[in-house]
Amino acid sequence: MRKFTMLSTLAALLVAAPVFAERVTIDLKDYDDDLMHDIERAIKYFEPDISGQNADAARDDAAELRRGFTYTHDYFSKKGNTQDAVEISKQGLQWLDTVLKELDAENYEAAAEGAREVSKACRNCHDTYKPDKARF
Ligand code: HEC
Repeated sequence: MRKFTMLSTLAALLVAAPVFAERVTIDLKDYDDDLMHDIERAIKYFEPDISGQNADAARDDAAELRRGFTYTHDYFSKKGNTQDAVEISKQGLQWLDTVLKELDAENYEAAAEGAREVSKACRNCHDTYKPDKARF
């Protein structure tokens, strides 16, 4: 029950995020696009790996994704005036923790739900900060 409450709270936070979604123009020339491509690969496999109960592969995906959200967290912390990008990155990391916990408990459905929230975090940030709308 407590786990459910935590999930709901996080979900509410993510639902609230688009309220701030007003496109922000920032200088991105030092941004690590290669890392973004790495995590794009990881997110594609993440939910299928979970649904296929391939926990080891899912943990590898999660490690890659953690690298991505840690990067965006630090990058936007340094930028300033991009507080919601920092928040979204934190939410992504929290959802990754949730997924790992659910994987350890072999709750694959809850883990897959968490993985969907992780990809929402990608989109939430892109809606505001990525110059062109993309699939991710
Ligand atoms: C906190 C913000 C933020 C988060 C979270 C984030 N991104 Fe991004 N992403 C960006 C920004 C900003 C750009 C644009 C970079 C640029 O134009 O140089 C970008 C660009 C990209 C690109 C295109 C790279 C290119 O060559 O133009 C891909 C692919 C991508 N992100 C995937 C992801 C995936 C997958 C996730 C989630 C697992 C994710 N991103 C999470 C901010 C974020």
